[in-house]
Amino acid sequence: MELPFAESYKIKMVETIKKSTREEREQWIKDAKYNLFNLKSEQVFIDLLTDSGTGAMSDKQWSAMMLGDESYAGASSYYKLKDTVKDLLGFEYFLPTHQGRAAENVLFSALIKEGDIIPGNSHFDTTKGHIEFRKAKAIDCTIDEAFDTEVDHPFKGNINIEKLENTIKEHTPEKIPFLVVTVTCNSSGGQPVSMQNLKDVRAIADKYGITVIFDSARFAENAYFIKIREKGYENKTIKEIVKEMFTYADGMTMSSKKDAIVNMGGFIGLKSEEIFKKATVFNIIFEGYITYGGMSGRDMNALAQGLDEGTEFDYLNTRIKQVAYLGEKLTEFGVPVQKPFGGHAIFVDAKKFLPNLPKEEFLAQTLAVELYLEAGIRGVEIGALLADRDPETRENRYPALELLRLAIPRRVYTNNHMDVIAVALKNVFDRRSDITKGLKIINEAPIMRHFTVELDKA
Ligand code: F0G
Repeated sequence: MELPFAESYKIKMVETIKKSTREEREQWIKDAKYNLFNLKSEQVFIDLLTDSGTGAMSDKQWSAMMLGDESYAGASSYYKLKDTVKDLLGFEYFLPTHQGRAAENVLFSALIKEGDIIPGNSHFDTTKGHIEFRKAKAIDCTIDEAFDTEVDHPFKGNINIEKLENTIKEHTPEKIPFLVVTVTCNSSGGQPVSMQNLKDVRAIADKYGITVIFDSARFAENAYFIKIREKGYENKTIKEIVKEMFTYADGMTMSSKKDAIVNMGGFIGLKSEEIFKKATVFNIIFEGYITYGGMSGRDMNALAQGLDEGTEFDYLNTRIKQVAYLGEKLTEFGVPVQKPFGGHAIFVDAKKFLPNLPKEEFLAQTLAVELYLEAGIRGVEIGALLADRDPETRENRYPALELLRLAIPRRVYTNNHMDVIAVALKNVFDRRSDITKGLKIINEAPIMRHFTVELDKA
């Protein structure tokens, strides 16, 4: 008999989590103005709000923290991390930042000016925020297959090369300081980009002399999918695949809180000394001196170790198989989810789940609230709230997909938790015809409203 699959780690420390009653949750979510960001973590039983900074560090990461060098300038922790970034990812120039959006802030300050165009594959919201904040425009060139949750395509994060080339021709290369490839593509469902697509993007960028930046938060999960799904890579190690991926980039921004399995941190990697010099000025203004940039020495040590562990096949296999385990359970129960399953999360298709609610009533948010009420599980809306208003017309933007994202923290929950999540969502699915009212906004911020928005029953 073939041995069943088991995790590639054992557990050395645990944290207690508490269940609550439906009555308690009804009061808490009302007090939170139906915005799950406003809940206290003790009010949540299983927290799937994000996989960002929520992972469990390993014994090796914790012990690396004890060796952190807290010197202001020239800390050994900085050099350790710089060497890891060079060896693993191939970037000569490196700037630490306190998280991913800080890396965007620094790099985009150096590269973007008003009126610029930044093509990419479904830019993440902070990426788009940093582009629009500078009065530039993000243009989504993701392949159409990404916007149909039922189409089974192995690389739904891919850029449509024709769309990309047309965008470049229409706006002229002079207006395009760089293009962004997000690996994996969070906003299209944690979907990977193929190596072939990275090569094709590189070829187009070379043709028009455009810089290529990878938004790399989940680069290791992307490499895992290349190994599993793309011909010619099955016998390569994750580290070899990662190395090749980054040969097609001129630079990268990184939120270390995801695939580097630390609770805080980010960085920029660059091949160009010229861009590095420009970005350095902004790093010092916004983040800190170049050898710490918003991170303590101990955190840089843990990050260097996390980059190494996060690019090991056994770890990634455990992680992505757990996400797929949840996806398969939900599929068995008939719950409509994005297929194939993403790397870091399962995305529930709220339009298919609640077909009778109008889009103006924020379907995915409504579903997120229902799942919380059902079992104290906190997911996050990736839909019209997140899509925000058009910066020019101020009209609500309604994206093609209304998704409820169930992001799985790394090395934190067991498959028993996955079973609870699946059954809770099944229960909501079984009573979906009783959900006849969605939500309405009563208060919102001018940009990135989803974090602080206040809602009420429609
Ligand atoms: N890029 C991608 C693809 C991301 O998913 C995120 C964060 C960032 C950049 C920004 O990084 O949070 O370190 O500043 N995503 C989190 C999420 C917040 O829940 O998906 P950050």
